[in-house]
Amino acid sequence: MAAAKKTLRVVVIGTGHVGSSYAFSLINQNLTDEMVLIDLNKEKTEGDAMDLNHGVPFGAPTKIWAGEYADCADADLVVITAGANQQPGETRLDLIEKNAKIFKNIVTSVMDSGFDGIFLIATNPVDVLSYATWKYSGLPMERVIGSGTILDTARFRFMLGEYFDLDVRNVHGYIMGEHGDTELPVWSQTRIGSEHIGRYMEKYKPEGTQQDLDDMFINVRDAAYHIIERKGATHYAIAMGLARLTKAILRNEHSILTVSTLMKGEYGLDDLYIGVPAVVSRQGIEKVIEIDLNKEEEEKLNHSAQVLKEAMKPIFN
Ligand code: LAC
Repeated sequence: MAAAKKTLRVVVIGTGHVGSSYAFSLINQNLTDEMVLIDLNKEKTEGDAMDLNHGVPFGAPTKIWAGEYADCADADLVVITAGANQQPGETRLDLIEKNAKIFKNIVTSVMDSGFDGIFLIATNPVDVLSYATWKYSGLPMERVIGSGTILDTARFRFMLGEYFDLDVRNVHGYIMGEHGDTELPVWSQTRIGSEHIGRYMEKYKPEGTQQDLDDMFINVRDAAYHIIERKGATHYAIAMGLARLTKAILRNEHSILTVSTLMKGEYGLDDLYIGVPAVVSRQGIEKVIEIDLNKEEEEKLNHSAQVLKEAMKPIFN
C-alpha cells in the first residue's frame, strides 16, 4: 500500500496587502492543500479566510482558516510578510529597526510550535530579515529563504521585453545584490533568445541604446517607489513572486531563481544574506550559482554587501 501523500500546509504570517495577495495567488495556482492565516488583526484573518474559502469552488480545493502559531507545527512552509512597509520616500533599510523587533517575536513563536519546515521571507529589508530569521530560528541556512531580487529580476525582464518587443520568456537576465537601492543588473550575462539561438545583450542591442538600457535599470531599481507614490504599496507582483518560489519548493522543481540566501564564500562574500541566483527545491536552497561577473559587476555586488553588513551592525553586534 503506497504511503498516503502528506497534506501540504502553508502558513502566512501577516495578511496585509502582500500576505492576502499571496494567499489569493496560492488558491488560484492550486499550490497547497491547507493554508493558515495569522495576523495581529484576528478579525481580518477570519474575514480573509471566509472570503477566500468562498472562492474555493472557483479555484482549487484548499482548506483555509484563521489560525494560531501552534498550526505551524505541521507546516511545510511558513511565509512571513508581516511588518511595516515603506512609506513614500522611505528606503527599505529605514524599516530595519522596527521590523527586526517584530521578527524576533514571530520567529520565536513559530519555532516554539515545533516547526521543522522552510521559512520564506518577504518583509523588508528582506536580506537583513532573512539573516535574522536564520539566526533566530537556528534552522540550517538552506531552509531560510528570502524573496531577494526575484521581483527585481522579473521587473528587469519585463522592461527589456517591452523595450525590444520580445516575449519576456526569451529574455534572460539577473538582478543581484540587496533587494533595494544598491542592487545591480548583470548586463554581461543578459541574453536574448531561446534554447537554440541567443545573443548577449552586448551584441543584440542596437547602436546608441545603452543610455536607454541604463535608464531602464534605474526604473527597475526604483519601481517600488514609483508604485508606492501612486497607490501606497506594492503587493501583486511580490505576491506572485512568492507563489513562484512556493511552487519551486513544494513541487521540488530545482529552479534557478534570484533569492536572498546566506553567503558562505560564494562571490567572495560571507555571513550575510543577499540576492543571488540559486537552485530552489523541496529542501530549500540546493546551491548558489556563481555566474561570471565582470569587474564592474563584482565591485557593485561587493558594495551592496558592504551596505547590508553596515545596516545589520546595530541589530546583530
Ligand atoms: C517591492 C517590494 C516588495 O520591491 O520591496 O515591490
